[in-house]
Amino acid sequence: MDGTFNENDISRVVETDRAHIWHHLSQHKPYETTDPRIIVEGKGMRVWDQKGKEHLDGVSGGVWTVNVGYGRESIANAVRDQLIKLNYFAGSAGSIPGSNFAEMLIDKMPGMTRVYYCNSGSEANEKGFKMVRQIAHKRYGGKKHKILYRDRDYHGTTITCLSAGGQDERNAQYGPFTDGFIRVPHCLEYRSFEQDGAPQENYGVWAADEIEKIILREGPDTVGGLCLEPVTAGGGVITPPDGYWDRVQEICKKYDILLHIDEVVCGVGRTGTWFGYQHYGIKPDLVTMAKGVASGYAAIACLVTTEEVFNMFKDDASDPMNYFRDISTFGGCTAGPTAGIENMRIIEDENLLENTTRMGAYMLDELHALSDRHKVIGQVRGKGLFLGAELVSDRDSREPVNEKLAQAVVADCMAQGVIIGMTNRSLPGKNNTLCFSPALIATKDDINQIITAVDGALGRVFS
Ligand SMILES: Cc1ncc(COP(=O)(O)O)c(C=O)c1O
Repeated sequence: MDGTFNENDISRVVETDRAHIWHHLSQHKPYETTDPRIIVEGKGMRVWDQKGKEHLDGVSGGVWTVNVGYGRESIANAVRDQLIKLNYFAGSAGSIPGSNFAEMLIDKMPGMTRVYYCNSGSEANEKGFKMVRQIAHKRYGGKKHKILYRDRDYHGTTITCLSAGGQDERNAQYGPFTDGFIRVPHCLEYRSFEQDGAPQENYGVWAADEIEKIILREGPDTVGGLCLEPVTAGGGVITPPDGYWDRVQEICKKYDILLHIDEVVCGVGRTGTWFGYQHYGIKPDLVTMAKGVASGYAAIACLVTTEEVFNMFKDDASDPMNYFRDISTFGGCTAGPTAGIENMRIIEDENLLENTTRMGAYMLDELHALSDRHKVIGQVRGKGLFLGAELVSDRDSREPVNEKLAQAVVADCMAQGVIIGMTNRSLPGKNNTLCFSPALIATKDDINQIITAVDGALGRVFS
């Protein structure tokens, strides 16, 4: 740290935090006897807390966000300059950075043409749901309004996003939920033995066919959209099985169902391609993105669509209701697209997609090597710098470890100055996957430091 904080300042911040801050996703009772953690500064891959302790951040700001690392002055400068020129005007008008960033984004997304700005992943997904609903009303008398979502996926925190949420611990106590959201089975092959009728072979095609069965059960004329993460994040870092996506797309085409891909975590480089769906030859109708779009330097989310979807909202200009009657006040902030432009330039100029692919493969190998040494690792999965290790108490039965043990591994790494994550209040009895998502600038030395910390932690916790 640069020493601008003295002991008195920081103890006051801690006390004020204790008195007034309601931390996200936190039980506050422990803060009565221990200090809440305050993160004071960040540089590159590292952050410093209120005690001046350095941490290697293996989770990009905790939730897959700071893709280009901390302390990027060029982003801060670009945002500063733009704020002085024009900070805001409502999104019914255009802006220079909004227009420029949309062009850059569309350039990376062949087949997509329109960018709708807003400010969180939840909001972007909710707008996607609204589009599907409005199309149902415009074209199908309101009938084709159901939206399918998948067990273990997460699309955000609002009541309607939770209605599309496949993580029962996140949803618990927040019902009743929005009508018309229908769950389809997950595609985690490692846990296929828990799914009735799952085959030993061609699991990916089977898992997709299960979606078709649900469409037929509900009636294809009632189903308007299917919302999926390309690689499931908080539900256990689930990479799709072979054959899955080809079949999913066939099914969507067959029943005229819009495919909404949630790239809130995978988007803008995390998996080594610009977007996660690009690994699997997917042609989406709607794509949502947030976290890594500006690496947390400004709040920005985007809903990107095809021209076909867009056209459905302008085909009858004589009808005063025939456009997307939606607004997002802060979708008009210019800081977001300005930071997005500079974030994308950094990824390109520093070849961070290539680094993500290389370092992701290296880290995956290192995690496999760890699993040779630690029987508690049941499976290692992931794509690029988006990796997970599922912990089990027995490799044959695949019984998940008690989540307190997974938490102990995370805490041990933290004590060593390495921040890793885990699936958290996600699935009952299955919060057992360690999560790794270092910034896309990670080096072999950084990854070695993470792996060494996890190695030591697993040895201590499961000795
Ligand atoms: C896949 C996915 N979609 C949507 C969201 C919601 O994003 P936000 O927290 O920006 O609303 C998240 C957040 O973790 C996510 O992981």
